[in-house]
Amino acid sequence: MVSYKELGLVNSVKLFADANQHGYAIPAYNFNNMEQLQAIVMGCAQSDSPVIIQVSKGARQYANQTLLRYMAQGAVAMAREMGSNIPVVLHLDHGDSFELCQSCIETGFSSVMLDGSHLPYEENIKLTRKVVEYAHEHDVTVEGELGVLAGIEDEVSAAKSHYTQPEEVEDFVKRTGVDSLAISIGTSHGAYKFKLKPGEEVPPLRFDILEEISKRIPGFPIVLHGSSSVIPEYIEMINQYGGKMDGAVGIPESQLRKAAGMAVCKINIDSDGRLAMTAKIREVFAKKPEEFDPRKYLGPARDMLRDLIIHKNKNVLGSAGQGNRVFATL
Ligand code: G3H
Ligand code: 13P
Ligand code: ZN
Repeated sequence: MVSYKELGLVNSVKLFADANQHGYAIPAYNFNNMEQLQAIVMGCAQSDSPVIIQVSKGARQYANQTLLRYMAQGAVAMAREMGSNIPVVLHLDHGDSFELCQSCIETGFSSVMLDGSHLPYEENIKLTRKVVEYAHEHDVTVEGELGVLAGIEDEVSAAKSHYTQPEEVEDFVKRTGVDSLAISIGTSHGAYKFKLKPGEEVPPLRFDILEEISKRIPGFPIVLHGSSSVIPEYIEMINQYGGKMDGAVGIPESQLRKAAGMAVCKINIDSDGRLAMTAKIREVFAKKPEEFDPRKYLGPARDMLRDLIIHKNKNVLGSAGQGNRVFATL
């Protein structure tokens, strides 16, 4: 058993309380490899933002679970070497079983998600409760989910989104003991969040549902998954340099900013980072076809991701400038 505390990581309780109080959201960035993690640490240290680095079941399989754990430990050390005391949370994204959550907790995660959103309500409560009981024995925070996002959630697929029903949240939170709750108000995973006809605009998020939820569980931390904006410049770059991503569209940044000022305390972003890196790598390959040193294309891709993260923290989440201040309160 390795405790996250030995690795310099923190859980999310006080971070969410601070984000709630000051009207911003903690960024949760997914990583699968070294360059993504470097970009997250550099971007968050440079913009002084608290950060949740998150790992999916697929990432754990791809990168090796032991290596990932040491990488997370290295991420904290790297931030400190940069002279930054930003708080770092290591989170399991979309955990689908008690055993997976347990294994993460035993290998140094400070936070886990049990995504039982596809299960019947009572089963979701039962499984989430079991994870909470184990996690809380180890001072690890737990995110639950109610409502189903459109698209693919790891191996969980849903043809269309089923918005969270506000009348269920109070009961769910009370009976499971979760520390935060992911809800469905119109976001979805991936780079194709809406099918728009020519001239059609992205439909706004269901802020009415978010408001109703926060009335029923005041001050409780809410999480938004599927929150990439699918930045048009990246899609243009990808298409310009040989890619094919027509019709890709995401959540406008202004809507995410609004959500961060409400009860939303954690915003999950993965696709935008994938797009930024892919766009840059495609550009390098197109402009310098003789290049074969991975550092010469992964390096620029990493810098592009770092700049994106700084932009998100400053202009979308509002988390920039909060990191060292919050750390001093932990
Ligand atoms: O919500 C899912 C995340 O974007 C992780 O995706 O399962 O492909 O690692 P993944
Ligand atoms: P995006 O696909 O919109 O980046 O969402 C990521 C996410 O929700 C990870 O859990
Ligand atoms: Zn997600």
